[in-house]
Amino acid sequence: TLGLATAAGFPLTTGSAAALEVDEPAQWTESDVDQIELTDDNTAPVVDHEPDQISEDRLVWDTWPLRNRDGSMAQFNGWQIIFSLTADPGRPEIDTPGDRHNWARISYFYSRDGKSWQEGGLVFEDEDWYGNQQWAGMAIYDEEEDQIYHFYTASEEIDPERFPRIQQEPPGQRLALAKGQTVDAGPNGVELVGENDHHIIGEADGEMYETVHQSSGIIFAFRDPWYFQHPETGEDLLLFEGNTPTPGYDDPNHPKNFNGNIGAMRATNDDLTEWELLPPVLESVGVNQQLERPHFVFQGGNWYLFTITHEFTYAPGLSGPEALHGWVSDSMYGDYEPLNESSLVVANPTEAPLQAYSWDTMQHGSNAVAQSFLNWQGVESDAELDQMSDQELMDAFGGTLAPSLQINLDGDETRIVTEKADGYVPPSTGRGGGQGRQQ
Ligand code: FRU
Repeated sequence: TLGLATAAGFPLTTGSAAALEVDEPAQWTESDVDQIELTDDNTAPVVDHEPDQISEDRLVWDTWPLRNRDGSMAQFNGWQIIFSLTADPGRPEIDTPGDRHNWARISYFYSRDGKSWQEGGLVFEDEDWYGNQQWAGMAIYDEEEDQIYHFYTASEEIDPERFPRIQQEPPGQRLALAKGQTVDAGPNGVELVGENDHHIIGEADGEMYETVHQSSGIIFAFRDPWYFQHPETGEDLLLFEGNTPTPGYDDPNHPKNFNGNIGAMRATNDDLTEWELLPPVLESVGVNQQLERPHFVFQGGNWYLFTITHEFTYAPGLSGPEALHGWVSDSMYGDYEPLNESSLVVANPTEAPLQAYSWDTMQHGSNAVAQSFLNWQGVESDAELDQMSDQELMDAFGGTLAPSLQINLDGDETRIVTEKADGYVPPSTGRGGGQGRQQ
């Protein structure tokens, strides 16, 4: 057993006999949603400056940092790395920003100060990646093995002939892992080098997690893998976005089809290529259809569970803003308390309700920092988007990183403390305080 004292006060043990206790999922309830109220503590300031476009020629959205295996930020000769979903708006198939999802590819960027990002290029230059579009994930660097583990969503367009119940040809989604690359960090920049091996590590089983065939909802979800080490047992675990099967309801507007969940898996080999599905840690049947990009922040013995969701994914009769939500518990399958009673942690301001999205929360001392991207600027509602021309949509889409937000975590309460620079990522955070490969 390797015992490490960690910043969060957990003894981090690997190879210990203790194992995770699996239990029933917690529930996001209608009465939690009824408590949602925008306040100074949970509402982001209006973005009031022209942002830097971090990519010269690509749209940028969901973003995650390269972390060490223990969740802290990786650093290489003083460089930090982030990964973003990106797409080339010059492609003939991309008429509107909505089309970008079908052409999503993971790019990397690097920085010395955690806020001015230089573009490195595409991550998977090889042809071997799974799916026909790369959706969100996360990445860790294993110092001993000197290699990156890229967790990503292998998304693909589904043939409507094969799946006639699916009205909108949503993509199929599986969880994937690419291993093999490492980081070459020199005085002038960073390059990802080496070949990746790609593996499918998770698929919906139709019992705990709805498959694309079973789905009648807005869009099927089995995506957004997020790796973490159990802070006490050291087990290798993943969260992801799923849906709970609710058979027998064909009407997409039936509340039962608003069936989002936060799924979990556990690795069954050391290579992290084999995994078993565990029950979801949180469900929102009858409440919300998409609990996207779920992730944890571990602090002071607490498990802070975060997820993002849209206005348009609430069940009929319920409403909430484009937002980051969170719950707190003392264990993975524990009694999750909604943060701030309603679970609302960061909402867009009412004057700019679609200004940012896809908050990814990282520990920062006794605070947290949430990074996000600029979504629709100067647009007041989803209904307004429906009226806009392709060119107007292209002009209104931010497509780069939004100002990050520093958030104070205090038991079951949170507070937005301050706005940080666009795309800001804290220098070294997390449990182990690991530094990645130095020099
Ligand atoms: C969130 C999201 C993710 C998904 C990606 C696809 O913005 O919907 O859940 O992986 O965008 O582009």
